[in-house]
Amino acid sequence: MIVLKAENITKIYGDKRGGTSVKALEKFDISIAKGEFVGVMGPSGSGKTTLLNILATIDTPSSGELMINDTNLTRLSEKQMAMFRRKELGFIFQDFNLLDSLSIKENIILPLVLDKVKHEEIEQKMTAMSEILNIGEILDKRPYQVSGGQQQRAACARALIHNPSIILADEPTGNLDSKASQDVMEALRALNEQKSATIMMVTHDPFAASFCQRIVMIRDGRYFQELVRGGNRHVFLKEILDSLSMLGGNYNDLP
Ligand SMILES: Nc1ncnc2c1ncn2[C@@H]1O[C@H](COP(=O)(O)OP(=O)(O)O)[C@@H](O)[C@H]1O
Ligand SMILES: [Mg+2]
Repeated sequence: MIVLKAENITKIYGDKRGGTSVKALEKFDISIAKGEFVGVMGPSGSGKTTLLNILATIDTPSSGELMINDTNLTRLSEKQMAMFRRKELGFIFQDFNLLDSLSIKENIILPLVLDKVKHEEIEQKMTAMSEILNIGEILDKRPYQVSGGQQQRAACARALIHNPSIILADEPTGNLDSKASQDVMEALRALNEQKSATIMMVTHDPFAASFCQRIVMIRDGRYFQELVRGGNRHVFLKEILDSLSMLGGNYNDLP
């Protein structure tokens, strides 16, 4: 079953007075099936953030169609879009975006509280999440009292707790050291495998990408190549590195 289908997406950033305009995406297609864990990689300036913002319904394409679960998002009003985003999408950001005034647990359950979900159901979901993500010990702490890796694992829980159709992650390991990156990627993999979470992640980091099942490479706003994980993660990592060297461009965020 296809969860997300974007077809012929073109995005032109322009200045309306007819000055410079930038074609950030050109006739880009991507399709993601239920339960997939897909990575998007490409040199800086290749259009990754633009793509993510369009899929996240934060930005609109200049042309093209975006379908998520049979809803054509290019035809919704602003208000319908906001509702759709809250129900159907989960987000993970590079800088965690947890609220410091709330405990870790309160941050995670906030989407359910806002939706007036029953207390028992919230507790039950919270327990399931905290077991998978190994965050049981930090639930009563504030975000600033725990490590970056723990904060990002809490953000993973928050992204999935309302059972969205798809989680969109933008450089989720971008602010983490290598040990914390590994913990977060293992957490995402666990959500994907144990909860059948559908995940699309934009990343610069080949190590993080090696946890995905499929990588879509993008260059100059266009589809370049796709890699599908066959064997183990280490073999996949090597394939990703080979593909990135072919991709060229300004890969300045590589370690
Ligand atoms: N708001 C914007 N206005 C004008 N140009 C933009 C804007 N956002 C991105 N761009 C341009 O679009 C291209 C793709 O950018 P982006 O999607 O941020 O790439 P990436 O995330 O892969 O680094 C770049 O040339 C960038 O300069
Ligand atoms: Mg970017």
